Amino acid sequence: MANDTKRFQAIIGHCKEYGFIFPSSEIYDGLSAVYDYGQNGSELKKNIKDHWWKSMTQLQDNIVGIDAAIFMHPTTWKASGHVDNFSDPMIDNKDSKKRYRVDHLIEARIDDLEAAGKQDQAAALQQDMDRLLAASDLDGLRQLIETQKIKCAVSGTSNWTDVRQFNLMFSTQLGSVSEEASEIYLRPETAQGIFVNFLNVQKTGRMKVPFGIAQIGKAFRNEIVARQFIFRMREFEQMEMQFFIRPGTQKEWYEYWKEQRMQWHLGLGIPREKYRFHDHVKLAHYADAACDIEYEFPIGFKEVEGIHSRTDFDLKNHQEYSKKKMQYFDPEINQNYIPYVIETSIGLDRTVLMVLSEAYAEEDLSTPDKPDSRVVLRFPPRLAPVKLAILPLTKKDGLPEIAREIMNDCKAHFRCFYEEKDAIGKRYRRMDAIGTPFCVTVDHQTKEDGTVTIRHRDSMNQERIPVTSIRETILNYIS
Ligand code: GAP
Repeated sequence: MANDTKRFQAIIGHCKEYGFIFPSSEIYDGLSAVYDYGQNGSELKKNIKDHWWKSMTQLQDNIVGIDAAIFMHPTTWKASGHVDNFSDPMIDNKDSKKRYRVDHLIEARIDDLEAAGKQDQAAALQQDMDRLLAASDLDGLRQLIETQKIKCAVSGTSNWTDVRQFNLMFSTQLGSVSEEASEIYLRPETAQGIFVNFLNVQKTGRMKVPFGIAQIGKAFRNEIVARQFIFRMREFEQMEMQFFIRPGTQKEWYEYWKEQRMQWHLGLGIPREKYRFHDHVKLAHYADAACDIEYEFPIGFKEVEGIHSRTDFDLKNHQEYSKKKMQYFDPEINQNYIPYVIETSIGLDRTVLMVLSEAYAEEDLSTPDKPDSRVVLRFPPRLAPVKLAILPLTKKDGLPEIAREIMNDCKAHFRCFYEEKDAIGKRYRRMDAIGTPFCVTVDHQTKEDGTVTIRHRDSMNQERIPVTSIRETILNYIS
């Protein structure tokens, strides 16, 4: 699937209709590239967060987690290189006044060429763009846009400004009196909170290299071209891990973490062919090697996670700017050194979008006599917002009472949902639409033999199980 805009729009609509994701402050017409998670979206997001946290900290012998503040001393961003280097080449169309990221503009042209079957031209253009971006050749990029006759989608003209660099950091004032206030930044990555705490954690945790520090938290970027739903936001969350290693071992640890992270992705039940590695041609200012793990979204293969070999760039610069030693004494080789770092950095919101894209299915269930269909979210059970729906067949004959008892037995262990309204078929469909993997129905037979039907979301098969085994059955599925 190259670019399935219709499917992507259907997913966005479904997210809104079923309480997953809403535009931010929608009653005021929303805020561009900012979104709120609703009752189901926030559960899904939290389940993904918990799953990542557990696999990166609890299941590792040598990785611990922290939770650093969003605001940091402004010098942090000078030392990290973000003040000077965290920018994207942009170009404005003079007629529409629209601003574009240069690489996005050229990538759209590459997509058009591919769609028109001109693969060779597309590949050549990709190469030219990569070369010019790597050399930060702004004039060359401007010329490329001109020779390709790329037009603004709004004005339809090629009346472009020069290409300029724009810094992506948001700034604000710390302090109440304007003369005394100092400018600080909203962090554009969570990683720096880990770097500045490197020695605090190493010393207090008596950590030995190689070891890692993980963190989940908000990051902010003034994305000029923010689009594609929660794929590119101005406020988003990252799940990052910095792995501190002995200098000279970065190549093997880089390969190790590439493999580990791919295994984590496959563990979500997503097939290997939906992923690919993409090596960076233009390296970020801190990296000596970097790649992305890309997933095939309905809008094409796009980055979900970055794996970066960051050398000792960050710790060395923090040492220089803070005048505090960032060295580690390695007892095995009897030497002091500034550790090198391999970073794994995955966007939480992009992972939510990936899981939603993979799960979303429109199914035709028509029979010769009756048209029928359903929209189902085939989430892995452990990520589903609701694990179990408990549905009394009718509102009378003591069935709701039994259903409430089941609810009380299960709700401390996993998220349940109770509903008695509407025909059972309608209730099943509503649960399919939010991805609930199991529904149990309490019917009149329950009163006779103490069993319920359990319905499996994906196969829609039903079987009878004893009421007493419901909790254990669901726990086995989601563990
Ligand atoms: N600390 C390294 C770092 O921040 P990055 O490649 O700029 O590297 C890492 O970002 C991940 O954060 C990306 O792979 C992506 O999933 C997510 N991300 C970056 N910018 C984003 C945005 N504007 N909206 C949503 N997610 C974003």
